[in-house]
Amino acid sequence: MIRRGIILAGGTGTRLKPLTDVVCKQLLPVYDKPMLHYPLATLMLLGIKEILIISTPKDLPAIKANLGDGSDYGISLQYAEQKEPRGLPDAFIIGADFIGQEPVCLILGDNILYWGQLKMVWGDCLNLTEGAYIVGARTRNPEQFGVIEYDTDNNVLSIEEKPENPKSSIAAIGLYFYDNQVVKLARELEPSPRGELEITDLNNVYLKAGKLKATFLSRGSTWLDAGTVTSLMDASNFFKIIEDRQGIKICCLEEVAFNMKYITKEQLRKKATQYQKSQYGEYLIKLLY
Ligand code: TTP
Repeated sequence: MIRRGIILAGGTGTRLKPLTDVVCKQLLPVYDKPMLHYPLATLMLLGIKEILIISTPKDLPAIKANLGDGSDYGISLQYAEQKEPRGLPDAFIIGADFIGQEPVCLILGDNILYWGQLKMVWGDCLNLTEGAYIVGARTRNPEQFGVIEYDTDNNVLSIEEKPENPKSSIAAIGLYFYDNQVVKLARELEPSPRGELEITDLNNVYLKAGKLKATFLSRGSTWLDAGTVTSLMDASNFFKIIEDRQGIKICCLEEVAFNMKYITKEQLRKKATQYQKSQYGEYLIKLLY
């Protein structure tokens, strides 16, 4: 069972400048909360309560100030620095001690998911003991992403980075599940011509060993990429519409923690009181009754 998760929340956010001159991408608002709350809520909903957040030396203090040790949400949060953006597999090298002898989940700090029927889709990934799972989502412009080709048993046949002629319309999103071999395999990778360790290279090692499977977001789920100003605005609008229409919040950490029984009603009350002057706080207060 996967119990540990890493959120990789460094990078430079060049496509969002000058916003990211002021604050890192993962702390920018997506509607009513910092972007990082969405991947954190995703891990919490998956039942993952031991989480390592990796970010740059510059941005880590602000992230820590926001989320603390996780006790407000009934989880354990640890932090580590990534001094340079050396690529996604670097997360497993930085996080080696945190991972220990366990399998691990990696989610990118700008990965925003909206879904239903969570455990039904993810059970296999969470029970992983050997090999790896990547997660794919249908997209209109697969050529801008890592494209997954797969067979009827969801075995991955190929993953191609930004191909001219995509073999499917399924893009690999920033959510991955690996067995404990990942630490060793990440250490063995060579940097690519752009000087980074590449997640596709890592996944190809699993693929060559016949140990890479894919799982897919269903039609009722959405994957949002908030890496550009337009997509950031789209993500905000998406959650505003859902929240306005249904009167529920998406990826509200306190609500997730309460529903998952990670925190008590008293702990929820404390957070609600802290935020009481905002709409967010009013929402938390309503959850108490
Ligand atoms: P990207 O979107 O590829 O890069 P970026 O966030 O720096 O943005 P831009 O392309 O506009 O410069 O990164 C995806 C996610 O992974 C994002 O949350 C940042 C994170 N990341 C790291 O934390 N460390 C890394 O070494 C890399 C490559 C990415």
